[in-house]
Amino acid sequence: MTKPLVAGNWKMHGNIEQASSLASQLAANWNDLQAVEMVVFPPFVHLSTVKEALANSAVALGAQNISQHEGGAYTGEISGAMLVEQGCQYVLVGHSERRELFGENNVTVAEKFKAAQKVGLVPILCVGESLQERRQGQTLAVVSSQISAVIDCVGLRNVSRAVIAYEPVWAIGTGEVASPQQAQQVHSAIRTQLGNIGADTRLLYGGSVKSSSAVELFAQPDINGGLVGGASLEAHEFLNIVKLAE
Ligand code: 13P
Repeated sequence: MTKPLVAGNWKMHGNIEQASSLASQLAANWNDLQAVEMVVFPPFVHLSTVKEALANSAVALGAQNISQHEGGAYTGEISGAMLVEQGCQYVLVGHSERRELFGENNVTVAEKFKAAQKVGLVPILCVGESLQERRQGQTLAVVSSQISAVIDCVGLRNVSRAVIAYEPVWAIGTGEVASPQQAQQVHSAIRTQLGNIGADTRLLYGGSVKSSSAVELFAQPDINGGLVGGASLEAHEFLNIVKLAE
């Protein structure tokens, strides 16, 4: 059985004190939730503080972004090796906010994915359609092409070793969560695209996940956990969501 994974993407929220307090609360409670893997994605500058707060717990640490380059004159960028040094095990790749607001395309995303695996980080590849694409009936085509771009770059086996998060853009930060049926339909198509090799690949749903919506989402056969934004900033609510993935 695939161990469920619940990830908290803190985005560009909070200060050091809040990051430390949130991580400490998760670390104090992880023991009761060992059937689920928990990982948090603080801003880069809070990584070391959060790492300290998570010490002696099994809550994993991840970064929200990674450079596709190994090192060099790339002002403002952070390499995979630097993230490993900070204690990261996971990294988000291709989040829709990076694609939409910072011009990342399928090619950049695939290069970042490759850079992550090269240093031993587990990429969480984020994919998802816009509202317009959904209305035009393109959801499955868009998601499949986002995944194909990465398969073309690193191969199917490497993609199946990672985590894929389906995050419909229209559900992110809007309070409008995909229905369990809508999410399952896309997850099932992703599973099919990965073939036999992807039978155990963890597929997460993200987009306005709350404890109230998590039960039904996590009950879907191809949903193996969640990528949580806003609701991951509150320890009690995030822990409730983690509990529901058990
Ligand atoms: P929300 O849970 O705030 O909608 O954010 C989802 C997300 O983007 C996680 O990566």
